[in-house]
Amino acid sequence: MFILTTEHLTRRFGDLAAVDDLTISVEEGEIFGLLGPNGAGKSTAIKMIITLLPPTSGRVCVGGFDLAHDSNKIRRLIGYVPQILSADGTLTARENLTVFASLYDIPRKERSKRIDESLALMELTEASDKLVKNYSGGMIRRLEIAQSMLHRPKVLFLDEPTIGLDPVGRKAVWDHIQKLRDNFRTTIFLTTHYMEEADKLCSRVAIMHLGKLAVAGVPADLKISLNIDNPTLEDVFTHYTGGILDRGDSYREARNTRRTAKRLG
Ligand SMILES: Nc1ncnc2c1ncn2[C@@H]1O[C@H](COP(=O)(O)OP(=O)(O)OP(=O)(O)O)[C@@H](O)[C@H]1O
Ligand SMILES: [Mg+2]
Repeated sequence: MFILTTEHLTRRFGDLAAVDDLTISVEEGEIFGLLGPNGAGKSTAIKMIITLLPPTSGRVCVGGFDLAHDSNKIRRLIGYVPQILSADGTLTARENLTVFASLYDIPRKERSKRIDESLALMELTEASDKLVKNYSGGMIRRLEIAQSMLHRPKVLFLDEPTIGLDPVGRKAVWDHIQKLRDNFRTTIFLTTHYMEEADKLCSRVAIMHLGKLAVAGVPADLKISLNIDNPTLEDVFTHYTGGILDRGDSYREARNTRRTAKRLG
């Protein structure tokens, strides 16, 4: 069963079609990866699906609700960790979680239990009373995931959950994402630039390029379809995006160069 579908989803900013006729579907309980170069339209697509940005045209359904009529109901079904930081460094993890528990209207008598469970699930119990500004990047990401899971959403949106993390931090985040899926059957919708991870963890991926859907499918099938020796998901990505890294402005280019430099190490 599909828990999320988009049909011809489009968002324009002036002349730019940031998301252009995107039709995708996500099955309940799967880890779905939305991939694409910088500026492809991934974050814009997520923002429309989670009701933060009105589409120019097209349709979105989440959990049987149509975005055009029932965006409030959709909001109650979802959790979101944005690409930018969403935890407050001047608070402890427990305090951050308390803020989100009231935001999500978790009944007062359940709050502390829910917070303790979330801390344990993300392995942050020991550090729970330390200020978040002293956390590692990986711990902050895990806290943000804990925040977004407090109300037990059916679908969790993670926009580049592992960006900037070292391999150990990245692995921990991925392990915990899998745990959420296994423990709560949460559907995970994520974006990433790490093809190896997407290959390992996503049951299906969609690759966007210049706002459009370039290809979607099971990673193994996409690799086989290339008809080359030892294909990787990186090869699939390059094939469908023409190896072009982005379409952006100078800010994006600068950021991209830094990322590329980092990748090349
Ligand atoms: N609010 C906005 N106003 C104008 N243009 C925007 C706005 N938001 C996004 N864009 C443009 O839309 C395009 C898609 O951006 P988006 O952030 O969705 O890409 P992305 O795939 O998430 O990229 P990245 O991998 O760098 O996060 C870009 O060209 C971007 O500059
Ligand atoms: Mg983005």
